[in-house]
Amino acid sequence: MYKIAVIAGDGTGPEVVAEGLKVLAAASKKFGFKYEAKEFDFSGQRYLKTGKTVDDNDIVQLKKYSAIYLGAVGHPEVKPGILETGVLLKLRFALDQYINLRPVKLYSDAFCPLKDKKPEDIDFVVVRENSEGLYKGMGEFKNKGTQDEVAIQISYNTRKGVERCIRYAFEYCKKRNKRKKLTLCGKTNVLTYAWDLWQRTFNEVSEEYPDITTDYAHVDATTMWFVKNPEWFDVIVTDNMFGDIITDLGAMVQGGMGIAAGGNINPEGVSMFEPIGGSAPKYTGKNVINPLAAICAAGMMLEILGEENAGKAIEEAVIKVVKTKLKSLAAGKMGYSTEEVGDSVVKNL
Ligand code: IPM
Ligand code: MN
Repeated sequence: MYKIAVIAGDGTGPEVVAEGLKVLAAASKKFGFKYEAKEFDFSGQRYLKTGKTVDDNDIVQLKKYSAIYLGAVGHPEVKPGILETGVLLKLRFALDQYINLRPVKLYSDAFCPLKDKKPEDIDFVVVRENSEGLYKGMGEFKNKGTQDEVAIQISYNTRKGVERCIRYAFEYCKKRNKRKKLTLCGKTNVLTYAWDLWQRTFNEVSEEYPDITTDYAHVDATTMWFVKNPEWFDVIVTDNMFGDIITDLGAMVQGGMGIAAGGNINPEGVSMFEPIGGSAPKYTGKNVINPLAAICAAGMMLEILGEENAGKAIEEAVIKVVKTKLKSLAAGKMGYSTEEVGDSVVKNL
């Protein structure tokens, strides 16, 4: 019996989560696994009413779950930074979800913004470090508010943190068993402390994986290759900030935020799955947002929980819907409502 904590969140979060849960229910019927879902109301809405984000007691409760399914957190009336650090990053850090796994897979060439690229050309996975780097929030102001102000923002990288991420990436690449190529994406030519540690650790760990081809690309060049030669990539491992940036570009080359899912993973603990787009306030309540990213996140959740057949079947059903039905992957342009798209996935499943 899986215990799923559901955080629908703000904006279109509840709409896409509802479709994901519909698909989860259908998958459970078909594949015979059992689960129970419990809602948690962490959100910008709740923050505006109560001033509460996520506290340590909430974390204690969440640790009792098998996984967390998240819609979106973000509210136009809440000052930037509060919900990000108080909810999303709090969950990632406190639950030590040290991997952010973000597949970039094109399901239909009809929705690729790149000319002449086919599904077989765009099929890679970004393993983003999810607990350190610039996201650690270390730094300070000096002489704040004066002409001599200095703002310092530190990228914090530990050997242990870097190594566990790199090891995860090698293992993932091996298990994925596709092109067996792992690319380290960094900036060794300028950020000579952090990326020296990353490069050394990468080289050392790579010796344990003679079957995996290794490669290195600077982050700026990586964005160029994503557009020019995405077929070069199989698995990419990178730090938190670079991973954040390149996966938005990744989402676009796979057809947009409507289809991009990710998993915040603690391989030894509670992981959290989410569509990587935001709460999309302007589409809220209109039944026009694309639920496929959230549905794919539910599929990923099942795969990581060990229900691999169910996870794969959900992905197959999504591919069918994308290829045979939708006019676009963008909100309001799909040719169907949010609910209809969810229903089609269920039908194909
Ligand atoms: C993401 C988001 C978050 C991040 C924000 C909302 C804090 O952009 O999941 O990629 O920067 O990690
Ligand atoms: Mn991001």
